[in-house]
Amino acid sequence: MPSVYIKTYGCQMNERDSEAVAAQLVAKGYQLAKSEQQADVILLNTCSVRDQAEQKAFGKMNHLAVEVRRSRPNTVLGFMGCMAQSRGQDLIDKLPDVDLVLGTQKFHRAGDYLEQILSGERKQICDIEEEKGSESTIRDHISIGKTANQSVTSFVSIMQGCNQHCTFCIVPSTRGRERSRPIEEIVLECEKLVAAGIKEITLLGQIVTSYGKREIGMRDGKSAFVQLLEAVHEVKGLDRIRFTSPHPKGYGDDLIEAYGYLPKLCASAHIPVQSGSNRLLKLMHRGYTRERFLEIIEKLRRVNPNIGLTTDIIVAFPGETDEDFEDTMNLVREVQFDNAFVFKYSPRQDTPAAAMEEQIPQELNEARHAKLLGAVTEIGAERYEQFMGKTVRILVEGPSRRNPQRLQGRTTCNKIVVFEGNERHIGQLIDLKIYRVGSFTLYGDAAIVNLDQE
Ligand code: SAH
Ligand code: F3S
Repeated sequence: MPSVYIKTYGCQMNERDSEAVAAQLVAKGYQLAKSEQQADVILLNTCSVRDQAEQKAFGKMNHLAVEVRRSRPNTVLGFMGCMAQSRGQDLIDKLPDVDLVLGTQKFHRAGDYLEQILSGERKQICDIEEEKGSESTIRDHISIGKTANQSVTSFVSIMQGCNQHCTFCIVPSTRGRERSRPIEEIVLECEKLVAAGIKEITLLGQIVTSYGKREIGMRDGKSAFVQLLEAVHEVKGLDRIRFTSPHPKGYGDDLIEAYGYLPKLCASAHIPVQSGSNRLLKLMHRGYTRERFLEIIEKLRRVNPNIGLTTDIIVAFPGETDEDFEDTMNLVREVQFDNAFVFKYSPRQDTPAAAMEEQIPQELNEARHAKLLGAVTEIGAERYEQFMGKTVRILVEGPSRRNPQRLQGRTTCNKIVVFEGNERHIGQLIDLKIYRVGSFTLYGDAAIVNLDQE
């Protein structure tokens, strides 16, 4: 059977989609290739959120077309995911070496289509049609890049799409309208994962706080998303639950209170704010004000003062004045996020913001990005510094990314902790004393805990 290599760009949803496609192909008998040099099929799972992400995948494919096709003409090359969805046939027209373009509602067809291409039945395939029920079509899991038996964390997709239509965002067009899976189906998937050794599950969606709004609705004052959290919380043997990404407008009191009574729900929240200026929030069509955002943060910290808080921010949205930008700087100083992803605004095809006048010049975009990133890093460093000497509990996930000789895990508040451990500890919750603080990483002292305990 052929071997496949999948390279993933972008968000966790893409990682999950790649895992699902890999599982599907492995079930058909494919091998997972260690590198693209050895693969018979190379798939790039793409991101369209910013132009840079598209350029990267495009450049990569160009390189593969030249390098791989020259030496191994039978290699199959494919694009899948968001850029495949938004550009479709155009990708094949621009890069004729591409054999497969698979949209975001068609991941479950990857196996069939590859078979048709490999057998010579069809030469090139582009399928970016919408498909009813695609949010539930593939549920199998496989970890790429980790040894399967070591994997203790997993993603579970709970919904697809987004109806919010923020004026800068391409996601509603690449991922379609909101479609949620039933609670029972999600719980079943979680139970299966836990039976296979998974200890921590991250519930995924483009706007998880809108989960089941139409399909399930409110019950006893609780949103469908909180009902789902409660149902997943019941899964025996599961230690931790996380989710991403929520939207501030869905951060109701029911969700905030859930942090207080669901002990498996990790004490962390990634809540994209995008801007600190009410004027821009409105132009972005975000549906909340700065004041409302600050209120959510305050309430969350009231429920748990140690909650880890991170966010996404866009600088240089069209028309952003110095004053608007200062509002964002102030908000960042006021909230004291543990970390924030700062993005330079990038105009996206067919989005309202791309057509707005007053696009900000590149140099100003870069200058604001650097200034905000500087503040975020400084604040983050101070917040991480507070962990020095403290004892934290982590779920041991596996080898450290930077130094595979060591292990790493995360605290409930989502801080990475690196320590000298033993493979046996993967999957365990252990306490470590922090002896060093690096850049957005904590280092735990293994000597302080009894690592031999079973
Ligand atoms: N809710 C989605 C958001 C996806 S985009 C999710 O997390 O799954 C992730 C982040 O990229 C957004 O929160 C936003 O900060 C940033 N982003 C989206 N569109 C952008 C654009 N046109 N330019 C720059 N950054 C953008
Ligand atoms: Fe994009 Fe806004 Fe939805 S950022 S994914 S349109 S909430």
